[in-house]
Amino acid sequence: MEKVVNLAKRRGFAFQSSEIYGGLASCWDYGPVGVELKRNVKNAWWHDMVLTRHDIVGIDCAILMHPRVWEASGHVAGFTDPLVDCKKCKERFRADKLTDVQCPQRPSKHPGECGGELTESRQFNLMFKTFMGPVEDTANVVFMRPETAQGIFVNFLNVLNSSRQKVPFGIAQIGKSFRNEITPGNFVFRTREFEQMEMEFFVRPGEDDRWYEYWKAERLTWYGKYGVRPENLRLREHAKDELAHYAKACVDVEYQFPFGWSELEGIANRTDFDLKQHAEFSGKDLSYFNEETRERFVPYVIEPAAGADRATLAFLVDAYDEDEAEGEPRIVLRFHPRIAPVKAAVFPLLRKDGQPEKALHIRDLLAKQFPVQYDQAGSIGRRYRRQDEIGTPFGVTVDHQTMQDDTVTLRHRDTMQQERIPIDRLVSELKLRIEGDQ
Ligand code: GAP
Repeated sequence: MEKVVNLAKRRGFAFQSSEIYGGLASCWDYGPVGVELKRNVKNAWWHDMVLTRHDIVGIDCAILMHPRVWEASGHVAGFTDPLVDCKKCKERFRADKLTDVQCPQRPSKHPGECGGELTESRQFNLMFKTFMGPVEDTANVVFMRPETAQGIFVNFLNVLNSSRQKVPFGIAQIGKSFRNEITPGNFVFRTREFEQMEMEFFVRPGEDDRWYEYWKAERLTWYGKYGVRPENLRLREHAKDELAHYAKACVDVEYQFPFGWSELEGIANRTDFDLKQHAEFSGKDLSYFNEETRERFVPYVIEPAAGADRATLAFLVDAYDEDEAEGEPRIVLRFHPRIAPVKAAVFPLLRKDGQPEKALHIRDLLAKQFPVQYDQAGSIGRRYRRQDEIGTPFGVTVDHQTMQDDTVTLRHRDTMQQERIPIDRLVSELKLRIEGDQ
């Protein structure tokens, strides 16, 4: 994990937020390469969950919502963790996770075992609060959404009435969520500001178990489709006593991170809980009428809820590899071409004889299609290594022969094999290899 975090900083995947001021705990900024990586992850999700499906539509809701939303959803009353304070060091810990953390003063001990007395546990709400408008009083409190899902539920009727969808259908959203986590950590795995990729799939009650199984399989397959190794993925069904108050069943897609198997995504059968709660709290009828069967019901919801940052981290960790190139150790990120932040890098072999001009022309040609870099500094081997470290799948080299016959060498990141390609076929060849059959 340390190697990945170091590489991430060195090569511009992610930096600690406000680093020059000492950093802000658990907040991260994505750098020039990381922003492309994370965007590719989100685009792959959107492509497969919305663009190529006829039964799912997208939405993009405001982060701030009416405070009653969070009363109806159960977040005001129940989105809490039990906390204890250490009377000695004044630090605060999750009462149910004491053995997972170290005492800040005596790291070989857990809190409470270090001689410091712990207070009785109290419930602590994880929602961030702020004020709407110029007056900071309780009447103006609004919450930063802790999940994107509720924006979807409260728009159920709007989408139904405007999109000609019929149950079963889904509404998908990608967006920021905020949780005042007590023990954030492991790089971007658990942070206080993060991005979710959630989809609420509305089904007829009675058909929910079948759709639950369907989404379990779909979502597990999705990570493999973009290159995550199958041995690092598994499904873990929640025990009854682990289930959230709204869930009839829930399964986690877990990834084997260097710090252990951990949740990437939860797939839950949320029943009709949310729509019924919002119907009761808003006074609006959120039932669905099936014209064909003349049946009226409140749909059940199957929810695959993934984290964009966690998925990005899993792709990064899974791609990380070390091997040898030309007798020297190399770090290589073996990203799937669709996930790779930069798709190709263009190099002139020499900095003379018109090669840089030709290479820049090719760079501009490719840049119209996808992210591409140009590099003319240092030996060609070192330039390849730099691209391997950010996982660029293709290297395009302009050399002496290029100047004679308009062909370039195409170098493959994983095999390091090279082939010769005419420049006029370069764009189509690369697009085919990056996008495949989608
Ligand atoms: N709407 C259901 C829901 O929010 P969740 O399991 O709490 O369920 C879904 O969150 C996903 O969001 C998680 O599987 C995880 O990938 C991501 N996530 C949740 N909390 C996070 C945090 N503090 N930091 C990063 N990602 C987080």
